Amino acid sequence: MTDKLIIFDTTLRDGEQSPGASMNRDEKLRIARQLERLKVDVIEAGFAASSNGDFEAVRSIAQVIKNSAVCSLARANDRDISRAAEALHGAAQPRIHTFIATSALHMEKKLRMTPDQVFEQARSSVRLARNLCHDVEFSPEDGYRSDPDFLCRVLEAVIAEGATTVNIPDTVGYAVPELFGQFILDLRCRIPNADKAIWSVHCHNDLGMAVANSLAGVKIGGARQVECTINGLGERAGNCSLEEVVMAVKTRRDHFGLDVSIDATQIVPASRLVAQTTGFTVQPNKAVVGANAFAHASGIHQDGVLKARDTYEIMRAEDVGWSTNKIVLGKLSGRNAFKQRLLDLGVALESEGEINAAFAKFKELADRKSEIFDEDITALVMDESVTAEHEFYRLLALSQHSEMGERPQAKVAFAAGDAEHHAQSDGNGPVDASLKAIESKLQSGAEMLLYSVNAITSGSTESQGEVTVRLQRGGRVVNGVGSDPDIVVASAKAYLAALNKLHSKIERVAAQG
Ligand code: KIV
Ligand code: ZN
Repeated sequence: MTDKLIIFDTTLRDGEQSPGASMNRDEKLRIARQLERLKVDVIEAGFAASSNGDFEAVRSIAQVIKNSAVCSLARANDRDISRAAEALHGAAQPRIHTFIATSALHMEKKLRMTPDQVFEQARSSVRLARNLCHDVEFSPEDGYRSDPDFLCRVLEAVIAEGATTVNIPDTVGYAVPELFGQFILDLRCRIPNADKAIWSVHCHNDLGMAVANSLAGVKIGGARQVECTINGLGERAGNCSLEEVVMAVKTRRDHFGLDVSIDATQIVPASRLVAQTTGFTVQPNKAVVGANAFAHASGIHQDGVLKARDTYEIMRAEDVGWSTNKIVLGKLSGRNAFKQRLLDLGVALESEGEINAAFAKFKELADRKSEIFDEDITALVMDESVTAEHEFYRLLALSQHSEMGERPQAKVAFAAGDAEHHAQSDGNGPVDASLKAIESKLQSGAEMLLYSVNAITSGSTESQGEVTVRLQRGGRVVNGVGSDPDIVVASAKAYLAALNKLHSKIERVAAQG
């Protein structure tokens, strides 16, 4: 048994299945690069057969990521598996992850297949996948609620066909730690060829126990791969949270006795990037990555921490990537310093044109905001208006007037392709007035599902506002993000960014549909 715990990140596949969290190819690529910096062992990049958009995302990620394995999900059928192999072609370390449900409930009601049919399908799919890729993972969906005898039969067969990893999902988040750990151990003890594959766990968080269950699968059950997502993103109550599992194993190495290859200083940047991209903000009291995770408010705690840090802290904020709001650049900084800072932050802008556009935005921001923090720079490049040359809708100007007791008025100028529009409206507040002005010209027909504002750097009203707008039209759900010291401007940018995504033809379909 190895003493290494493999970290399999599925933010871009299972995480993306969260309603409203769908990402386009460029967003996925940016997150994949951050996951590689974080040194995750496996990146599940998507579900290649589910849509052309996801196929392209898996393909692009497979082409650029070198230091993590890149994996595509595939249902246990020939078409899905071939499509996954095609998307992964050329990857440095490709993995096909194929799955089929094995619980009586899923087989009968969802698949309408007999256990024997499911058994054969699992076996032949792993055989095909192994012919196309040397690294194959098999998951019996709803594994935890499956009949153990049947599960043993299926798992023994897929391992015999060459599955290199077998992953036991608690698909509906029904497990409790001791039982789940024992479940994994029993399977490993009963299956004669169990030692020929790596055992993995994949837990959902419906009862808030995904992390505890995963750790029990490791400690009691002997699993050596955990499937998880940044910020615990995922359908319903989400998946097992990567940052919590990793920091538990690192901080309690005395108990787990396992190593992970993760560079923990990249955890907070990864968390921020995923939150910014998806619009799923992190609750302040979330372990490790919440804004309050290292804040000591009570006098007794503050006093203790000042005297000896370990009185109340079991991890150091800087070890998980909380920078102490370092002022990094100012208005006199040049293009080279800016470019270097982007590289240090791991932001790879594709072209010189994009760097120039980002630098122009940085100068504009530095004129209005005296202190520029790392967080401002990441927000600046996240802001879709940086790549405005590719965008259909672009904000040109905005002014608004609001006075206590009066109805606010806004005037907005924006480009739509080559046309320039000028519009004005009143509204309940200045943000409402500005978005209504845009809508008075566009009549987009989009329904707003979410509007949220966050301060990019906490603790000061000088911070930039970062706005996320989630729109839905014709079954498509998209997020737009905009940032600016003026939150009304940030809101208009976010709104147009979301409309740009609706306007783009790139197909986005929920990964597991
Ligand atoms: O939750 C689940 O069962 C899954 C499988 C596809 C691994 O996501
Ligand atoms: Zn899942």
